Amino acid sequence: MTGTNEMTLSFSAKSENEAFARVAVAAFVSQLDPTLDELNDLKTAVSEAVTNAIIHGYESDPSCQVTIEATIEGDSVSITVTDNGHGIEDLELARQPLYTSKPELERSGMGFTIMENFMDRFEVSSTSGGGTRVAMQKRIESKKALYN
Ligand SMILES: Nc1ncnc2c1ncn2[C@@H]1O[C@H](COP(=O)(O)OP(=O)(O)OP(=O)(O)O)[C@@H](O)[C@H]1O
Ligand SMILES: [Mg+2]
Repeated sequence: MTGTNEMTLSFSAKSENEAFARVAVAAFVSQLDPTLDELNDLKTAVSEAVTNAIIHGYESDPSCQVTIEATIEGDSVSITVTDNGHGIEDLELARQPLYTSKPELERSGMGFTIMENFMDRFEVSSTSGGGTRVAMQKRIESKKALYN
């Protein structure tokens, strides 16, 4: 594939939309012919980022919008998940495995760790009160590579 291909998606901060977002990104990326493993990694990472935006960023306020931007460039896909919600005060602490600010909701504090492990690149920027942006990138080897 040549050139770049971009898409933007905005949706209400409702937990019903987690599955929608995951499937929409998977459908967009399918043109790179990913393996099931690659697709599952991507879907999981997107799901974690979107869940965070909805639950932590917006406290599930359905009048707020989560935005996903995805860009395919060569054999890589870059994905950003953005919210304009509460933001994160201490990013270093938030990124620690097992850290959660909502233990009462039985969160395990593994979202950021999962995103970091499942994607090739992972960056999070946030300002307290100003929202959060997660940027991730993954190279898709594609099924074709398996047959060669
Ligand atoms: N978009 C966001 N807006 C505000 N705070 C966030 C956001 N994403 C993450 N955080 C903060 O970072 C912490 C760690 O996030 P992480 O996804 O690793 O764990 P978790 O969401 O608490 O639990 P899990 O993802 O395992 O259910 C959260 O508990 C929350 O305090
Ligand atoms: Mg999480």
